Amino acid sequence: MNLDLKNQTAVIVGAARGIGLAIARAFAQEGAKVVLVDRDPVVAESAQSLANASGIVGDVTNFDAMKKVAAQCQRVDHLVFAVGVGSGKFGFPYWNLEPSDWPRVMAINVQGAVNVVHAFTPNFLQAKTGSMLLIASVAGQIGSQTDPPYSASKAALINFMQCAAKDLAPYHVRVNALCPGMVKTELNQSIWAAWNVMQPADKKQAYDDWAGDKIQKVVPLGQWQTPEEMAAMAVYLASTHGRNITGQCVNVDGGFVMHW
Ligand SMILES: NC(=O)c1ccc[n+]([C@@H]2O[C@H](COP(=O)([O-])OP(=O)(O)OC[C@H]3O[C@@H](n4cnc5c(N)ncnc54)[C@H](O)[C@@H]3O)[C@@H](O)[C@H]2O)c1
Repeated sequence: MNLDLKNQTAVIVGAARGIGLAIARAFAQEGAKVVLVDRDPVVAESAQSLANASGIVGDVTNFDAMKKVAAQCQRVDHLVFAVGVGSGKFGFPYWNLEPSDWPRVMAINVQGAVNVVHAFTPNFLQAKTGSMLLIASVAGQIGSQTDPPYSASKAALINFMQCAAKDLAPYHVRVNALCPGMVKTELNQSIWAAWNVMQPADKKQAYDDWAGDKIQKVVPLGQWQTPEEMAAMAVYLASTHGRNITGQCVNVDGGFVMHW
């Protein structure tokens, strides 16, 4: 399938590793020029492993830094926000957490996305074409009890995505959210670590066993999703094949959450 992404520029924020890096790789493989942004300086090495790519170190909580990145990029055809953090604690019941566990998660997952979208909006208003993709989560659709601030942040992200999709539609800029279910990354492993530390000695599990049990319980297709599957959907949504898709929350989750 020709995705028509050659010579286009894609900016992937949160691209040092995990799903963001896989998305950056997929855009590069489709011939796009790719700019990888992350607070982790390893982003420079991640960019070096791709053709026609550069890496910029930046923290999404810093709006001025994001505006500088947007100014540096000039023409941008596609923007992906793939940053995400959890509280680092197991949030069931919610009073396992303190209210003070919430602000950092909201500052990165919600305010960070708002900063990035605002910073790049002038580029898109000028181009009058293009796409944005915010990586949310099935957790934002089902009141997932694992980590309430994380779930709430993803619900907010989905809602903001719809506002942005409506506002940018007259400019032919499409905005969507992609919701993974269970993908083996550092973030996913940190959820297990937060759970495991709370368990008595006889209930502790290895990461793969914990994930295997959870997948059998909540994923109808009974399997992990991969970063490459997220990336395939991301480039499809950015491509001309996605020209009528905007304001949507697309789940790539093995059937975890089913919409009608
Ligand atoms: N892995 C899963 O099972 C899963 C499930 C649902 C949703 N998601 C979402 O997918 C996206 C990617 O997650 P992942 O699993 O690849 O996680 P990851 O931890 O592997 O990658 C997240 C990246 O974001 C970067 N980052 C974190 N805070 C930042 C900040 N303040 N500024 C700039 N960069 C920052 C990290 O350095 C890292 O490179 C996230 O939005 C996450 O919530 C993941």
